[in-house]
This record gives sequence, C-alpha cells and structure tokens, in this order.
Amino acid sequence: MAETMNKVSGKDRSVCVIGLGYVGLPIAVRAVERGYSVTGLDLDERKVTLINDGKSPIEDAGLSEELPKYPFTASTNPSILSDADIILICVPTPVDDVHFPDLAPVKGATDLVAKYAKKGALVVLESTVNPGVSEEVVKPILEKAGFVVGQDIHLAHCPERINPGDTKWSVKNIPRVVGSTSPEGLERALAFYGSIVDGEIRPMKSIREAEAVKIVENSFRDINIAFVNELARSFDKLGIDVKDVIRGAATKPFAFMAHYPSCGVGGHCIPVDPYYLIERAKQSGFDHRFLKIAREINNSMPAYAVELLQDELNSIRLPLNGTKVGVLGLAYKPNVDDLRESPAEDVIAELERYGADIATFDPHILRLSSEKTLEAILDRSDAVILVTAHREFLDSITPELLAKHGVRVFIDGQNTFDRQAITEAGIAYKGIGR
Ligand SMILES: NC(=O)c1ccc[n+]([C@@H]2O[C@H](COP(=O)([O-])OP(=O)(O)OC[C@H]3O[C@@H](n4cnc5c(N)ncnc54)[C@H](O)[C@@H]3O)[C@@H](O)[C@H]2O)c1
Repeated sequence: MAETMNKVSGKDRSVCVIGLGYVGLPIAVRAVERGYSVTGLDLDERKVTLINDGKSPIEDAGLSEELPKYPFTASTNPSILSDADIILICVPTPVDDVHFPDLAPVKGATDLVAKYAKKGALVVLESTVNPGVSEEVVKPILEKAGFVVGQDIHLAHCPERINPGDTKWSVKNIPRVVGSTSPEGLERALAFYGSIVDGEIRPMKSIREAEAVKIVENSFRDINIAFVNELARSFDKLGIDVKDVIRGAATKPFAFMAHYPSCGVGGHCIPVDPYYLIERAKQSGFDHRFLKIAREINNSMPAYAVELLQDELNSIRLPLNGTKVGVLGLAYKPNVDDLRESPAEDVIAELERYGADIATFDPHILRLSSEKTLEAILDRSDAVILVTAHREFLDSITPELLAKHGVRVFIDGQNTFDRQAITEAGIAYKGIGR
C-alpha cells in the first residue's frame, strides 16, 4: 500500500461511494489517496469481491495499478452508509428502449441514503442528470424520510466528466463544477472536491445550473458530431473527402473545433444525456428540435455504414444476403471493453436484417467475439466493417493482410485507414464521407 497524502480539510473525513463503476471507482481510489476513510457500496457482488481482492473490475491500466495501492472496503450492505460524512452517488442514468430517461438507479440509491445516512451528511449526486433531478427527485426522497435538506442533511451536485482510457485527463485533474441547495452544502462540496482534484472547482449559483452544465457539454458534442455526420453523407454525394475538409478547416486557429464522422456514437453519455434534457424540457413545454435532430442523425449512422457496404458489394455483384461479413470492434470506443450503446450493436442488427453471414472480433471483448483472432475473422470474411479503431487494428491491418485473406470490401467506419493504399491492393474501400 502506498502512502496517502492527507488533504482532508474540515470535519468531513469519511466517504462512501455508491456505484463502483467507471465514475465511482476512480473517485473512491482517489479519495483514499488523498487521506479519506473510504467505503464503497454496489449491488454487484462480483464487482465488490474483485475490489476487495484489489482487482479492478474495469479494464483500465491506471486503475489496475492504483486500486491495490489505495485499497478500500466495498460492500453490498447499505448499512455502511451510516458512517459516512460524505456520500457520493455514482449510479447509472440510462434511457430505456424508447430513449426515455430511467431514473430508477438514482431513486434506488437515494432510497438507501434516506434510510441509512447519518444526520449532517453531505450527499453529492455525481451521476449525469437533467436540470431538476436533484431538487425534484432526490430531495423529496430525503425529505420523506424526515430529513430537512439544507439543515440536517446537505445536497450537492458535481457532475463527473471522466473520460475512461484518457491518460491525460482523469479524476485527478479534470476541473469540476459544483452546485448545492444550501450554502453549507456548497462550501463542504467545494472543500471536498478541492482536496481531490488538482484543477478548478467552480461553484455554480444553483444545483440546477450544475446539472445543466454537464448536459450542455455532452449535447454540444452530440450536435457537433451530428453536423459532421450529415456533412459526410452530403460530401459523399459531392465526391468530397470530408476528413480532408475538416482537417483543412481545423487549420483555422479560432472559432472552429474539429469533430469527425463515424459509423455511430456510443457510450453511456453522449447518445443518452441529451434525451434527459429533451424529456424534461418537454414537460415544461419546450421542444428541443435541434437536439432531437442531432440524435436522429447520429442514430442513423450504423444503418448508413451497412448501406455503404451494400453499395460496395453491389459493385462487385455480391448480395449482402449470405455474404460473409466481419465486424471489427464491439466496444463503443477504442482501447476499452465498454459495450454500452455501442454502434456495433446496431450495425450487427442491420446486417442480420439483410441476412448477412456475420462474424465478430474485438480483442478487448473476446468473450462476445465469435472469432478469437484478427487472422481468423479476416480469413472467413468477404467484407469487413471496422466499427472500433482499437490500437490492435490500427497496428496490424494492412492492405496486404486484407488481400492475403481474400477480403474484397473494407468499410472503414472510423475513417482511420489509407483509402488509396487499400484500393490499390484491389480491395473496395469506403469510409464515412470519403
Ligand atoms: N462512463 C463514463 O464515461 C461517464 C463519464 C461521466 C459521467 N458519467 C455518468 O456517471 C454515472 C455513472 O456512470 P458509470 O459509467 O460509472 O456507470 P457504471 O454502470 O459503470 O457503474 C454504476 C455502478 O452503479 C451500481 N449501481 C446501480 N444501482 C445501484 C444502487 N441502487 N445501489 C448501489 N449500486 C448501484 C452498478 O452495479 C454499477 O456498478 C452516469 O450517470 C453516467 O452518465 C459516466
């Protein structure tokens, strides 16, 4: 065990983190590092056992090294909440099949807080939520249990911005915003995050503003990606390489930010969070047309990638029905094993709809891959769709390798390969907008 650094300030010394996933686990480990007495609560017994054995349940090199150095006790027993000065709620905020926000995990975690938290505790919601959830959902549950929020329990929101797999930006240095329903809650939350993060902790005027910040960030990204996805489809018709154009535009040193098109947007945040705002605004009589269109465009990209495949197969007189198609990558982004909202799922569903003979390979998710090596999937595929630009693919796939295994069509869902080199090897190449 490494030495901890005592950064604890004020009287808040013990922290309990509810939800030990991509968000909860890193902050629990960081709080140990900074000298807090930490416990963790999760419903998932497998995760709890792994954490107590010093093993990270998440594929992340940093966490795998840091958890054994900064261990803490995890449990499925909510009574551990009663010792905590600070409770961090880091549970999922998904949407259901029709994209409707599902606040059941937030409500479930708050029920436990309401039952077990001690008087005087500071409760911080870190999960991404629409403006209003802290005051309209969390606060009433605490009040129903007899707490006076802002007096004998304090409520704050500090949306997490972590980007799993990012080696530069982590829970240690990503600036945060904090809002609370009470001055004491704000002061204590600022002191806590100030002791955890080496970066700005910005107080917001209200808890709603803090909630809105995170939804704005992820909606901004969703909208910008939708814009370039739309450009990709338009420029394809105009015979312009969208990637080259974006790179050209990015030479402008101000007022432009490069985003790139792809076969879809995945993960627990960007394709999910805008729906929280869309639905809440609808309840207040506002129709978020722009956000809805962005979601619609981004949701259409996996089917578009399959459409491109179909066009390329047509040009060599192969029907998609019955053709052996290899899907490269199942994770929603490179070099992680996270499947949530991955475009791969929609690509596969679309291929199934057309009767393609599908195989899959993801070096980070072998348990769900039908083929266990890159060679094996290339060998059995007439066509491949690259969904995730894992480093293993970028390092190994060459035009020669594709040609050697008899691949005839290559759909580059991330625009990461050299179109000319692949075409020169006699393989039909199509990217998203190039
Ligand atoms: N993953 C990201 O990159 C990321 C980044 C920033 C913000 N967020 C937001 O943070 C929140 C958490 O996301 P995540 O990726 O860490 O989710 P996750 O699924 O990785 O982890 C959540 C954990 O909460 C546990 N859980 C669910 N309900 C519970 C309950 N009632 N009591 C105890 N444990 C419970 C689950 O078992 C799971 O282990 C979400 O709101 C998400 O939008 C995620």
